[in-house]
Amino acid sequence: MMKKLILIALIFFVAPAGVMAAGGSSFPKDKANIDLHNTESLQRGARLFVNYCLNCHSAGYARYNRVAADLGITEEQMSENMIFTTDENGEQSKVGSLMKVAMTEKYAKEAFGTKIPDLTLIARVKGNDWLYTYLRTFYLDDSRPTGMNNAMFPDVGMPHVLWELQGYQKVIEETTVDDHGHEHTKIVGFETVVPGSMTAPEYDQAVRDLVGFLAYMGEPVQLERQRLGVYVLLFLALLFVVAYFLKKEYWKDIH
Ligand code: HEC
Repeated sequence: MMKKLILIALIFFVAPAGVMAAGGSSFPKDKANIDLHNTESLQRGARLFVNYCLNCHSAGYARYNRVAADLGITEEQMSENMIFTTDENGEQSKVGSLMKVAMTEKYAKEAFGTKIPDLTLIARVKGNDWLYTYLRTFYLDDSRPTGMNNAMFPDVGMPHVLWELQGYQKVIEETTVDDHGHEHTKIVGFETVVPGSMTAPEYDQAVRDLVGFLAYMGEPVQLERQRLGVYVLLFLALLFVVAYFLKKEYWKDIH
Protein backbone atom coordinates (compact mmCIF):
# COMPACT_ATOMS: atom_id res chain seq x y z
CA MET A 1 0.00 0.00 0.00
CA MET A 2 2.72 2.41 1.07
CA LYS A 3 4.73 1.55 -2.00
CA LYS A 4 1.75 2.31 -4.20
CA LEU A 5 1.22 5.66 -2.54
CA ILE A 6 4.85 6.58 -3.00
CA LEU A 7 4.65 5.58 -6.65
CA ILE A 8 1.57 7.72 -7.17
CA ALA A 9 3.23 10.64 -5.42
CA LEU A 10 6.26 10.21 -7.65
CA ILE A 11 4.14 10.21 -10.80
CA PHE A 12 2.29 13.35 -9.81
CA PHE A 13 5.03 15.43 -8.31
CA VAL A 14 8.34 14.28 -9.64
CA ALA A 15 7.49 13.27 -13.20
CA PRO A 16 6.16 16.71 -14.24
CA ALA A 17 9.28 18.32 -12.81
CA GLY A 18 11.34 15.98 -14.95
CA VAL A 19 9.36 16.93 -18.04
CA MET A 20 9.81 20.62 -17.33
CA ALA A 21 13.50 20.17 -16.70
CA ALA A 22 14.01 18.42 -20.05
CA GLY A 23 15.56 20.82 -22.50
CA GLY A 24 15.91 23.23 -19.64
CA SER A 25 18.92 25.33 -18.95
CA SER A 26 20.01 27.65 -16.23
CA PHE A 27 20.61 30.39 -18.75
CA PRO A 28 18.64 33.48 -17.65
CA LYS A 29 15.69 34.50 -19.82
CA ASP A 30 15.45 37.94 -21.34
CA LYS A 31 12.12 39.79 -21.27
CA ALA A 32 10.29 39.53 -24.58
CA ASN A 33 8.13 42.64 -23.95
CA ILE A 34 5.76 41.80 -26.78
CA ASP A 35 2.90 44.13 -27.64
CA LEU A 36 -0.24 42.40 -28.88
CA HIS A 37 -1.82 45.78 -29.72
CA ASN A 38 0.87 46.50 -32.25
CA THR A 39 -0.70 45.05 -35.40
CA GLU A 40 2.27 45.98 -37.59
CA SER A 41 4.60 44.07 -35.29
CA LEU A 42 2.30 41.02 -35.43
CA GLN A 43 2.15 41.28 -39.24
CA ARG A 44 5.94 41.36 -39.45
CA GLY A 45 6.03 38.39 -37.09
CA ALA A 46 3.58 36.47 -39.27
CA ARG A 47 5.75 37.14 -42.31
CA LEU A 48 8.87 35.89 -40.53
CA PHE A 49 6.95 32.85 -39.36
CA VAL A 50 5.74 31.76 -42.82
CA ASN A 51 9.16 32.46 -44.35
CA TYR A 52 11.44 30.90 -41.78
CA CYS A 53 9.51 28.47 -39.60
CA LEU A 54 6.67 26.98 -41.61
CA ASN A 55 9.11 25.01 -43.79
CA CYS A 56 9.63 22.56 -40.96
CA HIS A 57 7.08 23.29 -38.23
CA SER A 58 3.33 23.28 -38.75
CA ALA A 59 0.85 25.44 -36.98
CA GLY A 60 -1.80 22.85 -37.54
CA TYR A 61 -4.50 24.51 -35.44
CA ALA A 62 -4.30 27.90 -37.15
CA ARG A 63 -5.90 28.86 -40.46
CA TYR A 64 -4.39 31.36 -42.86
CA ASN A 65 -7.63 33.32 -43.27
CA ARG A 66 -8.21 33.63 -39.53
CA VAL A 67 -4.69 35.01 -39.12
CA ALA A 68 -5.30 37.39 -42.04
CA ALA A 69 -8.58 38.65 -40.57
CA ASP A 70 -7.13 39.09 -37.08
CA LEU A 71 -4.01 40.91 -38.23
CA GLY A 72 -5.57 43.13 -40.86
CA ILE A 73 -4.04 41.35 -43.86
CA THR A 74 -6.28 40.95 -46.94
CA GLU A 75 -6.88 37.43 -48.22
CA GLU A 76 -5.22 38.35 -51.55
CA GLN A 77 -2.09 39.59 -49.78
CA MET A 78 -2.13 36.45 -47.73
CA SER A 79 -2.37 34.00 -50.61
CA GLU A 80 0.01 35.93 -52.88
CA ASN A 81 2.76 36.71 -50.39
CA MET A 82 2.45 34.48 -47.40
CA ILE A 83 1.30 31.00 -48.38
CA PHE A 84 4.25 28.85 -49.37
CA THR A 85 2.95 25.52 -48.14
CA THR A 86 1.36 22.95 -50.42
CA ASP A 87 -1.47 20.50 -49.88
CA GLU A 88 -1.20 16.75 -50.39
CA ASN A 89 -1.61 17.17 -54.20
CA GLY A 90 1.34 19.52 -54.34
CA GLU A 91 -0.85 22.59 -54.97
CA GLN A 92 -0.53 25.81 -53.04
CA SER A 93 -2.54 25.67 -49.81
CA LYS A 94 -5.78 27.66 -49.90
CA VAL A 95 -6.38 30.69 -47.76
CA GLY A 96 -8.86 28.64 -45.72
CA SER A 97 -6.37 25.84 -45.09
CA LEU A 98 -4.71 24.99 -41.84
CA MET A 99 -1.06 26.08 -41.60
CA LYS A 100 0.35 22.61 -42.15
CA VAL A 101 3.61 21.61 -43.76
CA ALA A 102 3.97 18.82 -46.27
CA MET A 103 6.98 17.29 -44.49
CA THR A 104 6.14 13.91 -43.04
CA GLU A 105 7.07 12.90 -39.53
CA LYS A 106 9.20 10.09 -40.92
CA TYR A 107 11.21 12.46 -43.08
CA ALA A 108 11.72 14.84 -40.15
CA LYS A 109 12.98 11.98 -38.06
CA GLU A 110 15.51 10.99 -40.70
CA ALA A 111 16.67 14.50 -41.42
CA PHE A 112 16.77 15.93 -37.90
CA GLY A 113 16.78 12.84 -35.71
CA THR A 114 13.69 14.01 -33.88
CA LYS A 115 10.06 14.95 -34.22
CA ILE A 116 9.46 18.57 -35.14
CA PRO A 117 6.90 20.06 -32.76
CA ASP A 118 3.82 21.92 -33.97
CA LEU A 119 4.11 25.60 -33.02
CA THR A 120 0.46 26.65 -32.68
CA LEU A 121 0.56 26.53 -28.89
CA ILE A 122 4.30 26.86 -28.33
CA ALA A 123 4.09 30.27 -26.64
CA ARG A 124 1.75 28.83 -24.02
CA VAL A 125 3.98 25.83 -23.47
CA LYS A 126 7.34 27.58 -23.29
CA GLY A 127 6.47 31.17 -22.45
CA ASN A 128 7.28 34.30 -24.45
CA ASP A 129 10.52 35.05 -22.63
CA TRP A 130 11.82 31.54 -23.21
CA LEU A 131 11.11 31.81 -26.97
CA TYR A 132 12.61 35.30 -27.20
CA THR A 133 15.81 34.12 -25.56
CA TYR A 134 15.93 30.81 -27.46
CA LEU A 135 15.75 32.45 -30.88
CA ARG A 136 18.59 34.85 -29.98
CA THR A 137 21.02 32.41 -28.36
CA PHE A 138 22.11 30.01 -31.08
CA TYR A 139 25.89 29.79 -31.07
CA LEU A 140 28.65 28.03 -32.99
CA ASP A 141 29.58 24.62 -31.62
CA ASP A 142 31.68 22.21 -33.70
CA SER A 143 30.65 19.24 -31.60
CA ARG A 144 27.04 19.44 -32.85
CA PRO A 145 25.78 17.93 -36.14
CA THR A 146 24.32 21.29 -37.23
CA GLY A 147 27.45 23.13 -36.08
CA MET A 148 25.24 25.09 -33.70
CA ASN A 149 24.11 24.84 -30.12
CA ASN A 150 21.69 26.90 -28.06
CA ALA A 151 21.89 28.48 -24.62
CA MET A 152 18.23 27.85 -23.74
CA PHE A 153 18.01 24.42 -25.34
CA PRO A 154 21.32 22.57 -24.92
CA ASP A 155 22.10 20.19 -27.80
CA VAL A 156 19.09 21.36 -29.80
CA GLY A 157 18.33 19.55 -33.05
CA MET A 158 17.09 22.67 -34.82
CA PRO A 159 19.53 24.58 -37.02
CA HIS A 160 19.95 28.35 -36.60
CA VAL A 161 17.40 29.21 -39.29
CA LEU A 162 17.62 32.96 -38.76
CA TRP A 163 21.41 33.11 -39.25
CA GLU A 164 21.14 35.36 -42.30
CA LEU A 165 19.51 38.00 -40.12
CA GLN A 166 21.49 37.55 -36.92
CA GLY A 167 24.80 36.27 -38.24
CA TYR A 168 26.88 33.80 -36.25
CA GLN A 169 28.01 34.24 -32.68
CA LYS A 170 30.19 32.29 -30.28
CA VAL A 171 29.80 32.01 -26.53
CA ILE A 172 31.87 33.61 -23.85
CA GLU A 173 32.09 31.10 -21.00
CA GLU A 174 33.19 31.39 -17.43
CA THR A 175 34.46 28.46 -15.40
CA THR A 176 34.21 28.47 -11.66
CA VAL A 177 35.40 25.87 -9.17
CA ASP A 178 33.07 25.09 -6.27
CA ASP A 179 33.98 24.08 -2.71
CA HIS A 180 34.25 20.44 -3.73
CA GLY A 181 36.71 21.16 -6.47
CA HIS A 182 34.19 20.58 -9.29
CA GLU A 183 34.39 22.82 -12.29
CA HIS A 184 31.22 24.52 -13.56
CA THR A 185 31.17 26.22 -16.92
CA LYS A 186 28.43 28.65 -17.72
CA ILE A 187 27.62 30.96 -20.59
CA VAL A 188 28.03 34.59 -19.65
CA GLY A 189 27.74 36.28 -23.03
CA PHE A 190 28.08 36.16 -26.80
CA GLU A 191 30.46 37.56 -29.34
CA THR A 192 29.59 38.08 -33.00
CA VAL A 193 31.83 36.11 -35.35
CA VAL A 194 30.02 36.76 -38.64
CA PRO A 195 27.60 39.71 -38.74
CA GLY A 196 24.13 39.18 -40.21
CA SER A 197 22.03 41.54 -42.31
CA MET A 198 20.53 43.10 -39.17
CA THR A 199 22.10 44.97 -36.28
CA ALA A 200 21.63 43.46 -32.83
CA PRO A 201 18.72 45.81 -31.89
CA GLU A 202 17.04 45.15 -35.26
CA TYR A 203 17.35 41.43 -34.74
CA ASP A 204 15.93 41.69 -31.21
CA GLN A 205 12.95 43.57 -32.61
CA ALA A 206 12.45 40.97 -35.37
CA VAL A 207 12.44 38.18 -32.78
CA ARG A 208 10.05 40.21 -30.62
CA ASP A 209 7.70 40.50 -33.64
CA LEU A 210 7.94 36.76 -34.21
CA VAL A 211 7.31 35.87 -30.56
CA GLY A 212 4.37 38.30 -30.54
CA PHE A 213 2.92 36.39 -33.47
CA LEU A 214 3.48 33.05 -31.73
CA ALA A 215 1.77 34.41 -28.60
CA TYR A 216 -1.17 35.62 -30.67
CA MET A 217 -1.40 32.25 -32.41
CA GLY A 218 -1.41 30.40 -29.10
CA GLU A 219 -4.48 32.29 -28.05
CA PRO A 220 -6.06 34.28 -30.88
CA VAL A 221 -8.98 35.30 -28.68
CA GLN A 222 -6.55 37.44 -26.68
CA LEU A 223 -6.99 40.23 -29.23
CA GLU A 224 -10.75 39.84 -29.26
CA ARG A 225 -10.91 39.77 -25.47
CA GLN A 226 -9.02 43.02 -25.15
CA ARG A 227 -11.27 44.73 -27.70
CA LEU A 228 -14.35 43.41 -25.90
CA GLY A 229 -12.97 44.52 -22.56
CA VAL A 230 -12.86 48.13 -23.73
CA TYR A 231 -16.51 48.02 -24.82
CA VAL A 232 -17.56 46.41 -21.57
CA LEU A 233 -15.84 49.17 -19.56
CA LEU A 234 -17.38 51.90 -21.75
CA PHE A 235 -20.80 50.33 -21.29
CA LEU A 236 -20.36 50.16 -17.53
CA ALA A 237 -19.32 53.81 -17.43
CA LEU A 238 -22.42 54.80 -19.38
CA LEU A 239 -24.62 52.65 -17.19
CA PHE A 240 -23.16 54.33 -14.13
CA VAL A 241 -24.09 57.78 -15.41
CA VAL A 242 -27.62 56.70 -16.30
CA ALA A 243 -28.08 54.97 -12.94
CA TYR A 244 -26.80 58.01 -11.12
CA PHE A 245 -29.33 60.38 -12.70
CA LEU A 246 -32.09 57.84 -12.30
CA LYS A 247 -31.34 57.63 -8.60
CA LYS A 248 -31.38 61.41 -8.31
CA GLU A 249 -34.73 61.49 -10.09
CA TYR A 250 -36.27 58.84 -7.82
CA TRP A 251 -35.04 60.31 -4.56
CA LYS A 252 -35.59 63.98 -5.30
CA ASP A 253 -39.02 64.21 -3.58
CA ILE A 254 -37.99 62.22 -0.53
CA HIS A 255 -35.22 64.48 0.79
C1 HEC B 1 15.05 23.19 -40.74
C2 HEC B 1 13.87 22.86 -39.99
C3 HEC B 1 13.43 23.86 -38.95
C4 HEC B 1 13.08 25.17 -39.14
C5 HEC B 1 13.06 25.94 -40.46
C6 HEC B 1 12.67 25.69 -37.85
N1 HEC B 1 12.78 24.71 -36.89
FE1 HEC B 1 12.28 24.89 -34.94
N2 HEC B 1 12.83 22.97 -34.60
C7 HEC B 1 13.31 22.10 -35.57
C8 HEC B 1 13.63 20.83 -34.94
C9 HEC B 1 14.19 19.61 -35.64
C10 HEC B 1 13.30 20.97 -33.56
C11 HEC B 1 13.43 19.91 -32.47
C12 HEC B 1 14.71 20.16 -31.76
C13 HEC B 1 15.04 19.10 -30.73
O1 HEC B 1 14.12 18.47 -30.18
O2 HEC B 1 16.23 18.93 -30.46
C14 HEC B 1 12.82 22.34 -33.39
C15 HEC B 1 12.43 22.87 -32.17
C16 HEC B 1 11.90 24.14 -32.00
C17 HEC B 1 11.45 24.67 -30.73
C18 HEC B 1 11.48 23.97 -29.40
C19 HEC B 1 10.18 23.30 -29.20
C20 HEC B 1 10.07 22.54 -27.91
O3 HEC B 1 8.97 22.03 -27.68
O4 HEC B 1 11.04 22.44 -27.18
C21 HEC B 1 10.97 25.93 -30.99
C22 HEC B 1 10.38 26.90 -29.99
C23 HEC B 1 11.15 26.18 -32.39
N3 HEC B 1 11.72 25.07 -32.97
C24 HEC B 1 10.81 27.36 -33.03
C25 HEC B 1 11.08 27.65 -34.35
C26 HEC B 1 10.80 28.93 -34.95
C27 HEC B 1 10.16 30.13 -34.26
C28 HEC B 1 11.23 28.85 -36.24
C29 HEC B 1 11.23 29.95 -37.28
C30 HEC B 1 12.07 31.07 -36.97
C31 HEC B 1 11.75 27.49 -36.44
N4 HEC B 1 11.64 26.79 -35.27
C32 HEC B 1 12.26 26.99 -37.65
C33 HEC B 1 13.47 22.35 -36.91
C34 HEC B 1 13.24 23.58 -37.53
